[in-house]
Amino acid sequence: MSGGDGPDAPAGLKEALPISAHHSPGITELGALRRRAREDPEGFWRPLVEGLYWHERAGPIFAPRPDPPYGQWLKGWTTNLCYNAVDRWIATPRRNQVAFYWEGEPGDRRAISYFELYREVNRLAATMRQLGVGVGDRVSIYLPMIPEAIVALLATVRLGAIHSVVFGGFAAQALADRINDSRSRLVVTADGGFRAGRTVELKRIVDQALAQTPSVERVLLFRRTGAPVPLEEGRDVWYDSVAPAGPVVVPPVWVDATHPSFILYTSGTTGKPKGAVHSTGGYMLWLDYTTRAVFDLHERDVFWCTADLGWVTGHSYVAYGPLLRGATSLVYEGAPTTPAPDRWWKLIEHYGVSVLYTSPTAIRSFIQLGDAWPGSHDLSSLRLLGSVGEPINPEAWLWYDERIGRKRCPIVDTWWQTETGGILISAQPGNAVTPLKPGSACFPLPGVDAAVVDEHGRPVAPGQKGLLVIRRPWPGQFIGLWGDPERYRSVYFDRFPGWYYPADFALQDRDGYYWLLGRADEVMKIAGHRLATAELEDILIMHPAVAESAVIGRSDAIKGEVPVACVILRPGYAPTPKLREELREHVRTSLGPIAVPAQLYFVARLPKTRSAKIMRRLLRDVVEERPLGDTTTLEDDTSLEEARRAYAELQREIDRERR
Ligand code: WTA
Repeated sequence: MSGGDGPDAPAGLKEALPISAHHSPGITELGALRRRAREDPEGFWRPLVEGLYWHERAGPIFAPRPDPPYGQWLKGWTTNLCYNAVDRWIATPRRNQVAFYWEGEPGDRRAISYFELYREVNRLAATMRQLGVGVGDRVSIYLPMIPEAIVALLATVRLGAIHSVVFGGFAAQALADRINDSRSRLVVTADGGFRAGRTVELKRIVDQALAQTPSVERVLLFRRTGAPVPLEEGRDVWYDSVAPAGPVVVPPVWVDATHPSFILYTSGTTGKPKGAVHSTGGYMLWLDYTTRAVFDLHERDVFWCTADLGWVTGHSYVAYGPLLRGATSLVYEGAPTTPAPDRWWKLIEHYGVSVLYTSPTAIRSFIQLGDAWPGSHDLSSLRLLGSVGEPINPEAWLWYDERIGRKRCPIVDTWWQTETGGILISAQPGNAVTPLKPGSACFPLPGVDAAVVDEHGRPVAPGQKGLLVIRRPWPGQFIGLWGDPERYRSVYFDRFPGWYYPADFALQDRDGYYWLLGRADEVMKIAGHRLATAELEDILIMHPAVAESAVIGRSDAIKGEVPVACVILRPGYAPTPKLREELREHVRTSLGPIAVPAQLYFVARLPKTRSAKIMRRLLRDVVEERPLGDTTTLEDDTSLEEARRAYAELQREIDRERR
């Protein structure tokens, strides 16, 4: 143990690229970069790789391989993600800069310097090591948006262990499934968190989940709400009672660039969530590159990505991206409208936020709350706005531009996925000569070889809707699905061999701009949160009253999409409003509040094809109250009539309740 001022810079540590340098290319440069990335990837990536710290170097930056994902990045190069995000700055003047301004929902504040972050990460890493966490072990993290959550990510990768963050809004069953799939030994959680003026009792949910998770040996608890929680002897420990009292240094564990840094569960087309596995070196390179290329952060910036750490946007642009750039960020714990609808605008004013990165759902809900809330605040510190997670409609884009950016700030609409690690398609703000188009994500970043194709893989004409594909590997690409190599291949690479298939519709207009048009599979985006219809169906069927169900995403003016469930009951159960509420409650307590069906109606039969596949497309037509699409493959039209009647009856019932 040593209590010095930080680590000595290891031999070979290059001074990290100064944050003050301008990194966003102009339009001519952008064209050249694109060409260079295509024709000479090694030459394109080399200077970016050199800006990061590698302990040992062996082999090429990229080596093609015959199997998905068709290549490996930096195999033989060793590094540590935490070292690059934190330690690297301790030997530079950034040591004393603020890494995070943090504000809790009740209004408590902290400013954490890079040095303080370094201290905290080492303290937690020492504690985790003492609890038995080693290289390759999985650690499940279930925390509110408190600084300790970011510290927990960093401490885990410092030890060469693998984090699996579970969104704090997921309920017990969802948490248990994710812990079991990753077979985590340690769960890091808190007594609770603050959200929308209430407390969320995280530890209670953990206790429910842990009744069915044999792999978990220890639970490490942070205190946040101060609420009393039961402790299980021998399993649960308060962090403060086991953490070393004084300063401690845990040497970073050097791992191969292809070593997994984290698993993040995301939804596919079946009920079982997929554990997307990210690498260490390629992921790090991608985050360093995209944070620089898209947000171009400088010393004077305060960057605020409003995502929760439980989703990929939180991993990449709350935690790793800004830290790898040595930037200063804002992290806020709570709800946007607590205690009043101007909480966000107050935060921007108070901290002088210069870059705001948020979701279209947030923007649409602010539109609804009225212009006076942002209007009464000084937002002149903003210089750049970002959007992520779902298609942004032109109306929301224009409001964001006018009311928040005050027509002074470019907007970057960034398209990417859990699987892609970081942003793939986005405008680059330094490149101001490219006119932005409201609702378009503009162009793939240099190094991203995208195309829009028909179902046979042939390019479609400009203006035509097709399927998005990425035709070459990129460093941030996920390297597997945890424990399921077969699903990795079949979901993402079998559709168009040699390419990555994201399952998104897109079109390219005559000027080459990309427009992202939503999912091409049964995955919903509810307020930007990704959830499979099948996940919800699997939860519904666990209730004793449910024989079968079909869930669809119905479009919603604020949330983009909301789930609507069509349910067949088992004999002996009556379709009452009380049962409807009970089923919604069942979803809330098993899967979480985001998954609760906006509407739920009962039928005796579901519309199916002759091969017994549920025709969700037609159910969607029913709930969106539009003419039915092609019904020729439908086995029995009366099922559809019935769904229509049942749904109409539900609407009448809702109207009656309103009156
Ligand atoms: C959607 C979130 C349109 C898309 C980072 C994708 C978007 C899915 C955009 C991934 C955007 C994300 N415009 N659609 N700018 N960004 N999406 O894994 O359908 O939670 O496939 O990652 O969100 O969701 P995920």
